[in-house]
Amino acid sequence: MNKTLELKTGEKIVIRHLSKSDIEGVWNNFNEVVEEGIYLPIFFPVRSRLEKDSWYRKIKNEKEICIIAEDHKFKPPYNIIGQCEISHSEWDAGLHVGILGIIVKKKYRDLGIGFNLIDIAIREFKKLDNKEKIVLSCFSTNKRALHLYKKIGFKVIGVRKKQFYMDAKYYDEVLMELWIDDYLYQNK
Ligand SMILES: CC(C)(COP(=O)(O)OP(=O)(O)OC[C@H]1O[C@@H](n2cnc3c(N)ncnc32)[C@H](O)[C@@H]1OP(=O)(O)O)[C@@H](O)C(=O)NCCC(=O)NCCS
Repeated sequence: MNKTLELKTGEKIVIRHLSKSDIEGVWNNFNEVVEEGIYLPIFFPVRSRLEKDSWYRKIKNEKEICIIAEDHKFKPPYNIIGQCEISHSEWDAGLHVGILGIIVKKKYRDLGIGFNLIDIAIREFKKLDNKEKIVLSCFSTNKRALHLYKKIGFKVIGVRKKQFYMDAKYYDEVLMELWIDDYLYQNK
């Protein structure tokens, strides 16, 4: 799978599966969002080579999905401008369920990259055996992400009040889910 996407700005980017050479770019994006301090319930960036490499091996060995957005204008690791991961549920009895996470680099947001990353990730996840549902969670203050998830068809199934405490502020966690076949039926 390799798709060229034309952005609202006229620029072209590529959407494709993760490769080994993307590891540094993906983690740079993750660490930048951790440093923004308002989107993820995580305090510390990931710097360890071991941790980064074992994340990559898990994705490949366990056949999880990680879709990358790449801007060819830049050299690695700066070419990786976004990523969407769908990992397997940690429960034996939850193998039909995927857990979605997504990040787009700050200066590339609101250009439709997130929408396209999620669309492709859902379609690629469905190609794995017996996958039915995707779940995610999001801070209730993350209006952009909530708008995008609802536009795709994710439904709010609950809110965990004051689930996180960061920088002297509580955050509610919104839980959402999407049935894959409904999505594919509505987006043929
Ligand atoms: C959330 C995120 C992945 C979305 O990616 P993106 O490429 O910006 O998404 P898109 O451009 O496809 O869609 C963004 C939508 O939100 C809308 N939007 C932007 N700001 C908004 C706001 N404050 N309130 C409501 N909608 C908003 C945009 O108009 C766009 O909608 P439209 O296409 O209907 O016009 C990206 O912004 C990001 O990485 N944010 C920081 C990390 C993060 O929040 N990750 C998710 C954690 S749950």
